[in-house]
Amino acid sequence: MCGIVGILGKEPVAPLLVDSLRRLEYRGYDSAGVATLEEGRLTRRRAEGKLRNLEGRLKEEPLSGTIGIGHTRWATHGRPSERNAHPHATDRLAVVHNGIIENFRELRQELEAGGDVFETETDTEVVARLVTREMRKTNDPAKAVAASLPHLRGAFALAFLFDGHEDLMIGARKGAPLAIGFGEGEMYLGSDALALAPFTRTISYLEDGDWVVLDRTTAVIRDAFGAKVKRPRIQTSAGAFLVDKGNHRHFMAKEIHEQPEVVGRTLSHYLDMANGRVRMPEGLPFDWKAIDRITMSACGTAYYAGLVGKYWFERYARIPVEIDVASEFRYREAPLSDKGLALVISQSGETADTLAGLRYAKDCGLPVLAVVNVPTSTIARESSAVAPTLAGPEIGVASTKAFTCQLAVLACLAIGAGRARGTIDAAKERELVAELVKVPGLMADALQTETAIEHVARDIAKATDVLFLGRGTNYPLAMEGALKLKEISYIHAEGYAAGELKHGPIALIDEEMPVVVLAPRDAIFEKTVSNMQEVAARGGRIILIADAHAAHDAGIEPAGTLVMPEMAPDFAAIAYAVPAQLLAYYAAVTLGKDVDQPRNLAKSVTVE
Ligand code: F6R
Repeated sequence: MCGIVGILGKEPVAPLLVDSLRRLEYRGYDSAGVATLEEGRLTRRRAEGKLRNLEGRLKEEPLSGTIGIGHTRWATHGRPSERNAHPHATDRLAVVHNGIIENFRELRQELEAGGDVFETETDTEVVARLVTREMRKTNDPAKAVAASLPHLRGAFALAFLFDGHEDLMIGARKGAPLAIGFGEGEMYLGSDALALAPFTRTISYLEDGDWVVLDRTTAVIRDAFGAKVKRPRIQTSAGAFLVDKGNHRHFMAKEIHEQPEVVGRTLSHYLDMANGRVRMPEGLPFDWKAIDRITMSACGTAYYAGLVGKYWFERYARIPVEIDVASEFRYREAPLSDKGLALVISQSGETADTLAGLRYAKDCGLPVLAVVNVPTSTIARESSAVAPTLAGPEIGVASTKAFTCQLAVLACLAIGAGRARGTIDAAKERELVAELVKVPGLMADALQTETAIEHVARDIAKATDVLFLGRGTNYPLAMEGALKLKEISYIHAEGYAAGELKHGPIALIDEEMPVVVLAPRDAIFEKTVSNMQEVAARGGRIILIADAHAAHDAGIEPAGTLVMPEMAPDFAAIAYAVPAQLLAYYAAVTLGKDVDQPRNLAKSVTVE
């Protein structure tokens, strides 16, 4: 899940590589490094930790080469350290890698038996040594790469730089994305369009198994069988300028605050507000009436969005939904109905497990609809149809605005499907659309309670464990709230269906344990009240997220209340996401954690 970039330029490339790596830091920030040719000789600078450490190194020891490769790492094999940082190099070449070489142990043993001495604990070093071994035989970089690639199992995007070759770079991809960027007498490689945006808008995505030989004016692409192939050149819209934090301290805060706007934008894309109707994406290659099952798969926050969506699809469109985390779905050989629809959800559109789930469903002959935020992503490109979320770039590692936009899209799709199948009539559609239209305003109201949330979060920050409870669509939201808290504050948290409490987790409750209850006024509010009574009876400290009268009506005295505006229950989960996110945000800020780049995580998980 690392980010890679390569530049064959006219000017010194080190600052440009760093600029591009800054845009790729969302893929990992355990270490970073660059390699260039200084008077024809391979030279590297690497540093453990965030990109700014590498920048410091480059200030002390600048590089002047006009060809170079760069890398930002999310460690898979070998702990984060300068020694394990990419580029990995031999006397002949340097390489940067995103992905995992699954057979690296076998290859390493074989190379060591042949006399190679390894310097790092990484899987990538085998690639450097394998290609170097071939180079010693042929002295031809392209032939050496071509002979080496078939030995590599797993997923990879690679960029190679060769000692003494001032006008040559080789890239290869299998299972991890890699794009070529075309400039004026300059050529680029990058993990995604965002990385290349400062340099060019004209790009080609390599397809699986492709490898490419670049000089400053040409790109010769071959497929896995060695045949020359052409891949379409497209114009991307990825902005050249990095999105900034505005007046906020962190991207996450900015993104939480953007939600009324981006959810509103997403809803306007799907709703014909004047007529109270849902506009479905055009050209869907299936008929909603013929669908007998939806199979959803996604990871992390996107999976929780899918879980909420399941309630809506089953309620409004009466379509049974099964949903899995994609890392399970891809391997469990699920029998899929030939009248089924696969629905995948992803912010980045590059998540390896979600992509594998998509491919499994496609191989089974199902149409795949992707709810995705990055329109140029692999998942968007490989799906039969795309239902976009219009959240804009999400930079904070913890997903916030992408989640609520995913919910908005799933709600629209469920209503549209219900109408197409005749399970809701025009009047119900109008009623639901009218409720959805109110959601951005309700989210804005929820943001007004920020000061109260900040106060409660200081209390949460003292806890070692936190429980989140909810029912119906607020049950997945409880899990999402717990995930947010875990990932940015490192406080242990679990989300449970409120009714499940007495089947085990209630044993955890004591005076120390905050229990966050998401309790909008829905048809099962009374049931949630009973669960809160159970917590209160055992001395648990309830943090209630509900409307102003809920605590009084429930007959409890919460340790803290986050007051939400009154709203109809159908889509309350979208607005209730706001206090759950802010609670995690302020707990992390109170604890002084790195909110936008929490330890061990990366924004885009392109390895399984
Ligand atoms: C949590 C988070 C992750 C992602 C997950 C899927 O805040 O961001 O759990 O939701 O890695 O990523 P995408 O949506 O890019 O497929």
